[in-house]
Amino acid sequence: MSKIISLPGLIDVHTHLREPGATQKEDFETGTKAAIAGGYTAILDMPNNPEPTITPEAVDKKISLANGRIYCDVGFNFGGTLESSKYFDQIKTKVMALKVYMNHTTGTLLQEDPHALQTIFERWPKQRVLIVHAEKDKLALAIKLAKRNGNRLHVAHVALAEDINRIRKAKTEGLPITCEVTCHHLFLTNADTKRLGPFGQMKPDLGMKQDQNALWKAISDGTMDIIAQDHAPHTIAEKKSEKPPHGVPGLETALPLLLTAVKEDRLTIEKLIELTNTNPRKIFNIPQQEDTFVEIDMEEKYRIDSNNLYTKCGWTPFEGVEVKGKIKKVALRGKVVFENGKISGLFGKIMFPAN
Ligand code: DOR
Ligand code: ZN
Repeated sequence: MSKIISLPGLIDVHTHLREPGATQKEDFETGTKAAIAGGYTAILDMPNNPEPTITPEAVDKKISLANGRIYCDVGFNFGGTLESSKYFDQIKTKVMALKVYMNHTTGTLLQEDPHALQTIFERWPKQRVLIVHAEKDKLALAIKLAKRNGNRLHVAHVALAEDINRIRKAKTEGLPITCEVTCHHLFLTNADTKRLGPFGQMKPDLGMKQDQNALWKAISDGTMDIIAQDHAPHTIAEKKSEKPPHGVPGLETALPLLLTAVKEDRLTIEKLIELTNTNPRKIFNIPQQEDTFVEIDMEEKYRIDSNNLYTKCGWTPFEGVEVKGKIKKVALRGKVVFENGKISGLFGKIMFPAN
C-alpha cells in the first residue's frame, strides 16, 4: 500500500558545496544533485572553503562557477573576518547572509579577537541575517554583540541544552534571534561516537542524551526555528586519515529521517514544513519557488544505503538505518527534476537577496 503526500520543496540554509578549492569532497553539480535527491530545492552555501568567500572576487567566482551547473537554487553566504568587513557594502546585494565563525571548525575563518568581532557585527547591515557558529561562552558573546549593535542574529547548529536555553532566554527578552538544529544532533548522540569513529566527528560535537532531548523539546515548544543540515562532506580517505576533518553529509538523509520521526509521533508534518520551508524562507528571505514540490510515499520503508547517494563523498553516518517515507518525485518550477531515483535538468538559479 502506498500513501503519497506532497510537501513544498525543502530549503537548507547550511550547506558546504566545497567549490572552489575542495572539489574532491563535493562540487556544485554533485552537491545540488544530492540536494534535489533529498527533496531540497533551495540551499545556501557556506564560505569556509580553502578559497574562502571573503572577497568580492571570491563571491563573483562562486557565482560564475555555479552558473549553469546547479540542479537546485543556490544562494551564497559571505565569511565575516576583520579584513572582509570592509567589503560588506560591495557584496551585500550578492550574498544571502554573513557567517561568522566564533568557534573552531573546518577552514581558516575563526574570529577570536573581541574587537574584530565588534567591528564585524557593527559593519554588517542591521536588517540582514548574521549567522554565528557560537557555542557556550562564545554564544553569550555573540548575543551581547548582537544586542549592542542591533543585529539580526541566527545561531547555526545548536547542539547543547545549555545553548538552546540561552537562546530561549534571549528570545523571551525580545531579541531578534533565531536558530537551527541539524539532523545529526537530532538523531545521534555521543553514545554513537565510538561506533562511528571519524564518520561521527563534526563541529559542534554530538551532545549527550539530555542535550538531544532539549533540542527536540525546543522544536515542540517553538524555540527552534529551522532544521538545517550542515551538509559537510569529506572524502572517506580524509576521514580515515591521521587527522580526520570535522563534518558529515546530510542532504539526502534528512527528509527520510524526519518523516520517520513523524511516523513515530515525535514531530508533526506541519512542524516539519514550518522548520524546513516556511521559517527558512521567511528568515533568510528566500525567493518563492512556484510549482515546486516533493512527492513522498509515506508507507515505503527502506534502509539508508550510501550506494544510492549522489553526494560525492559517498558515505553517511546513517548507513543502514531503516526509514519510512521515500522521496518519489521532485519538481522545480513545474519541471520534474527527480523521479524514481533519477535526476534531470540543470534548472537551478542563483539566488540574490530581495533588497
Ligand atoms: O563539522 C563541521 N564541518 N562543522 C562545521 O561547522 C563546518 C563543517 C565543514 O565545513 O566541514
Ligand atoms: Zn557548517
